[in-house]
Amino acid sequence: MPHHHDDATPPADFWEDRYASSDKVWSGKVNHALVQAVSGLTPGRSLDLGCGEGGDVLWLAEQGWDATGIDISATATQRGAAAATAAGLADRAHFVAADLGTWTGDDAYDLVTASFLQSPVELPRAQILRQAAQLVAPGGHLVVIAHAAMPPWAKAAGHDSHDFLSPADELAALDLDGWTTVTAEVRSREATGPDGQHAMLDDTVVVLRR
Ligand SMILES: C[S@@+](CC[C@H](N)C(=O)[O-])C[C@H]1O[C@@H](n2cnc3c(N)ncnc32)[C@H](O)[C@@H]1O
Repeated sequence: MPHHHDDATPPADFWEDRYASSDKVWSGKVNHALVQAVSGLTPGRSLDLGCGEGGDVLWLAEQGWDATGIDISATATQRGAAAATAAGLADRAHFVAADLGTWTGDDAYDLVTASFLQSPVELPRAQILRQAAQLVAPGGHLVVIAHAAMPPWAKAAGHDSHDFLSPADELAALDLDGWTTVTAEVRSREATGPDGQHAMLDDTVVVLRR
């Protein structure tokens, strides 16, 4: 079903409606590109921006990270917290409901991640990512995964679009001086649509080390 709203829909209402209107919006599984980016790293403290129902946060906690996820939808973060409790990970997986456009943190993290922090309604994405990058400790990593193109089923369903990002767009938006680019590339993955359709989807994956 296409979602109907206009661009002026407050982001908190848009996303809260999106989560509240379904028992489960995402698969609960970790994003594969995150697994690839993080697998060689020593676990420390991590922060996930726009964590949704927490698939990435739970996986990081399982790997030994002290993992926090932030999302604008309280329904989404409650689902993440409930899943953490059910998995016995409540001591290592933390969830916060907050608007990243106004949230400020002052802790240091060994890893800051953002998977598909993209929205058809207002989202000051570049500002959020640049600000969160400042929370990365020296030697720590920033991992940003984004849709590089629209899935064919979203196009067919007439979904509203948001910006799609190439690795060059992403590096320009981040505008981080003095960081090392570990990865900046488009990766294809096989995905299944809402009606079981199969397609290859392109993700932009950027990994930077401070
Ligand atoms: C496309 S979903 C991705 C969810 C999850 N990271 C994943 O990979 O499945 C984008 C997420 O960003 C969240 N979001 C959008 N605007 C936000 C904001 N201003 N502050 C915090 N979270 C926001 C939405 O609620 C949604 O969960």
